[in-house]
Amino acid sequence: MKLQMRRPDDWHLHLRDGALLSAVVPHTALRFARAVVMPNLSPPVTTTAAALAYRERILAAVPAGMRFEPLMTLYLTDNTPPEEIRRAAASGAVIGVKLYPAGATTNSDSGVTNIAHCAAAIAAIEETGLVLQVHGEVTADEIDVFDRERVFIEKVLGPVVERHPKLKVVLEHVTTADGIDFVSQARPGIAATITPQHMMLNRNALFAGGLRPHHYCLPVLKAERHREAVCAAATSGDARFFLGTDSAPHSRSSKESSCGCAGIFSAPVGIEVYAEVFEAAGRLERLEAFASEYGARFYGLPLNDDTITLEKRSWRPPAEYVAGEERIVPFRSGEPVAWSLVQDPS
Ligand code: DOR
Ligand code: ZN
Repeated sequence: MKLQMRRPDDWHLHLRDGALLSAVVPHTALRFARAVVMPNLSPPVTTTAAALAYRERILAAVPAGMRFEPLMTLYLTDNTPPEEIRRAAASGAVIGVKLYPAGATTNSDSGVTNIAHCAAAIAAIEETGLVLQVHGEVTADEIDVFDRERVFIEKVLGPVVERHPKLKVVLEHVTTADGIDFVSQARPGIAATITPQHMMLNRNALFAGGLRPHHYCLPVLKAERHREAVCAAATSGDARFFLGTDSAPHSRSSKESSCGCAGIFSAPVGIEVYAEVFEAAGRLERLEAFASEYGARFYGLPLNDDTITLEKRSWRPPAEYVAGEERIVPFRSGEPVAWSLVQDPS
């Protein structure tokens, strides 16, 4: 069985820099026309100038003969001036501003300590029509790690959306029934990206037969009822939910460590695994809109006009890929994946 579909876009992606960037970008460019590139480099991409320079490094890493358009983001800090937001919007290359609560995840130390510090910047995001892309987790020690998304929505996101009635917001990598309900009931202009792992796995996958560092990401995998809610939203045909892999490569040694990094490197299976899970849900016919239409419409961008072809043919992603001196382990490494990408002979 073959499935030809409009070429998809990845609305949430980590590409890193240097050798890692060169190693990972071909996997995304083979499948996706465009991707929203997260700004959590070290140091973070806090200015338009840094975003444009990063964009050039990404384009330089795209193999000859492949077309790929990085859609850049700025990293919001307590001190981002509104003028920087306006510069970013005027550049035409930056499409959103990423809100990382300080300490929430990889390279988030310069993130926002208190949303009140960002009022002027958020007003500028609202006014320019850029999108606020939100890592939706509180970081307070007393809040259980599995409740962080729900509490963030109650305490931070809900009020921000009320205070800024025209602000466009993406709740990135939504993981809970609470997040799904919030977006479903919100005013227009609020959407969410959905990763393959949060559709496919519940938190048992972190402990299956032993500790599984390659299933550790943030927000962390949740209980089965949340996975079901996320999967139902993704396959519902509701245009507010669209594809964002959150592919986040880390070296094998930094994942398999006494204090392992969060992130799942899914780019090498970045569309195939969604085909699997949509098929399992009996909703394969809704994959194309989720992967190739809803995100572009939300961001006000044209749909891609070329196609990719998937084939129902099982394959096994390798144990690891080489990236300079490092090795990176892909999602579903060594396990059968039911769908394959049919590659151009050229
Ligand atoms: O698992 C994650 N990895 N979640 C994030 O929010 C960041 C990402 C990364 O950059 O590694
Ligand atoms: Zn991410």
